[in-house]
Amino acid sequence: MGVELAEAISDAIRADQDIRATLDRLVDSGMLRSHLIDSLKGQDGEILAYHHPNGFAKIRLLGDVGHWALRIHFWSGAARVTDVHNHSWDFASRVLAGALVERQHHVVGFGSGAWKMSECRRISRHKYVYRQGPRCDILQSSERRYGAGDSYLLRHSCLHEARPAEDQVVTVVLQGPDLLTDTTVIFPADRPRPEELLTDPIPLPELEDYLWQVLDHLPA
Ligand SMILES: [Fe+2]
Repeated sequence: MGVELAEAISDAIRADQDIRATLDRLVDSGMLRSHLIDSLKGQDGEILAYHHPNGFAKIRLLGDVGHWALRIHFWSGAARVTDVHNHSWDFASRVLAGALVERQHHVVGFGSGAWKMSECRRISRHKYVYRQGPRCDILQSSERRYGAGDSYLLRHSCLHEARPAEDQVVTVVLQGPDLLTDTTVIFPADRPRPEELLTDPIPLPELEDYLWQVLDHLPA
């Protein structure tokens, strides 16, 4: 199913189809569920997974570097530290369990303010580096709550934050082609900004536990 699923996504990306509609189709058709079952049987390729600093497990199921990636994001219990950021690609996200509150922001001034900007670049599989930018102020422009079954599309240039609204939140994310080299991350000015980030890989037994739980939330 991994090959079939990857081909379906590659075809949709090449044809410039709406990634949100593509993601909904992968979930509703049962293709994602079949792929997870195959993965848990060990019939599919390596899954990359690490704990993201914004408090969720980031599990890359499939991808074609520079073109697309299909991931599971899994929040459970732990700390709820988030920052405001954009992405280097457009993406679609669908909530499988729990609920998310997604807020979008605009930068409204540079040189002073309650926030500090950084430019973030991934330089290897497990390492990100940050280049320090100016202080700034931001203004929230929207807030939306997404529950199980909801999906949304976010353009790469949007500054946003996504916070879990329940103890356990599971989403599946389809990211499109790379559009930027660096992303912008905006931290509260009273918090120390990181110079670099080494990701924290998820061991296989923990990863399998996450995937079994995801299966419970996927349509057959
Ligand atoms: Fe995000």
